[in-house]
Amino acid sequence: MDNVTIRGKKFVKSIDEKRIASRILEMATDISRDLNGEDVLFLGILNGSFIFLADLYREIDLESDISFLKLSSYNGVSSTGEVKELIGFNENIEGRTVVVVEDIIDSGRTLNRIIEDLKGKGAGRVVIVTLLYKPGAYKGAHRIDYAGFEIPNYFVIGYGLDFDGVARNLRSIYRLAEE
Ligand code: IMP
Ligand code: MG
Repeated sequence: MDNVTIRGKKFVKSIDEKRIASRILEMATDISRDLNGEDVLFLGILNGSFIFLADLYREIDLESDISFLKLSSYNGVSSTGEVKELIGFNENIEGRTVVVVEDIIDSGRTLNRIIEDLKGKGAGRVVIVTLLYKPGAYKGAHRIDYAGFEIPNYFVIGYGLDFDGVARNLRSIYRLAEE
């Protein structure tokens, strides 16, 4: 499938599932090597990261645990500028290495909010992992430690990323076609 139409909008394939899989292997190898010996908690940001983290985590060679957090969200497909609340997160992370796993980092606003909160809860170190990264949109201060693919400011869907709540189950990543 090279093109898909979702809710009347056309999307074209941008990153094939095979490329995603081989990049994830590389990322897992780097992360496992770099964080060896640390007390690691992988923390997936819901909903978008669930497919990426499921694939990444099975390739991780570290004694570590995993948890998820969700931010309250508002409707639509672009960042709203609203400060969101973290929901349902009560792990003890004192002094631990927390590996935040995102599907995509765009403006970095979501990430800022998460990092602030994790530092406030006493995290020893916060490491950022994202499958996709839009450097042209990023306004955050924190370094992105591991990024699978850097992409232009396209709107993308699939492999966990949604358009209005749907299309997360597409195996590859697709970008919105120009009209
Ligand atoms: P940020 O706070 O602007 O960095 O936005 C991050 C969040 O916005 C991501 O975790 C996604 O949920 C959503 N998002 C940003 N860009 C896209 C995109 O191209 N497709 C789907 N969701 C996106
Ligand atoms: Mg997200």
